[in-house]
Amino acid sequence: MDWGMKNRLSQLIQADGHCFFLPIDHGYFQGPTKCLEKPKETIKPLLPYCDALFVTRGVLRSSVDPTNSKPIILRVSGGTSMVGKDLANEGITTSIQEILRLNASAVGISIFVGSDYEHQSLLNLAKLVNECEDYSIPVMAVTAVGKEVGQKDARYLALSCRIAAELGARVVKTYWCAEDFDKVVGGCPVPVVMAGGPKCETELEVFEFVYDGMQKGAIGINLGRNVWQNPHPVAMAKALRVIIHENATAKGAYELFNDVKNKQ
Ligand code: 5RP
Repeated sequence: MDWGMKNRLSQLIQADGHCFFLPIDHGYFQGPTKCLEKPKETIKPLLPYCDALFVTRGVLRSSVDPTNSKPIILRVSGGTSMVGKDLANEGITTSIQEILRLNASAVGISIFVGSDYEHQSLLNLAKLVNECEDYSIPVMAVTAVGKEVGQKDARYLALSCRIAAELGARVVKTYWCAEDFDKVVGGCPVPVVMAGGPKCETELEVFEFVYDGMQKGAIGINLGRNVWQNPHPVAMAKALRVIIHENATAKGAYELFNDVKNKQ
């Protein structure tokens, strides 16, 4: 791995080998997502606790301070919406010149394995890897599941993650699953980061799945709605941070969450 690639990855993945990415890219197909209507306000109190932001170029330019930012993972796939025919019908939205101009530490792109657009989205990934590797920019593949978030078992996730890695992704973002998550991570030769999905019923539920995923080999999280849609987003971010970077248990994180919440 050359210096540039190593340097960019080390901006994202911390010295302990772990990472906490904060995604705020949801608007690219969901529009003004609840609690992300004004991204600038959403991220302001959370920035100190995350290691990187996952964001589109539009929100980056309009809502992120270039003089006081965390490293950027630029969302570079899109072209669909919640009300359109098929979320999987994505293309690459951002040129390599724009990726360089915005000084991205990495880029992120969705793949839709098993969908009608499987072939297209996988070739999008391969094309992006071809372009980004020329400039030592890591590509993070997002194993997206369209609207059917419920249908994600270990076999499906392992298949998607492995394909993403085979096509050249340097990091893969996928969903945690209750059974055999270790097989998802074990079958993927590049680091795996967990996405959050729709907001969980309780905070403890979030801490438990994140802790479990870390024990099973994930290197961190890319978790959005369960942070910024919580009524106490800073408490959530602080509590997640101690699981990721201080090896805290779910119970320990929950105690910290309650401490911070009660002091606010
Ligand atoms: C949206 C994304 C998000 O980055 C990803 O889903 C993580 O966010 P959340 O924790 O809210 O699910 O890729 O397309």
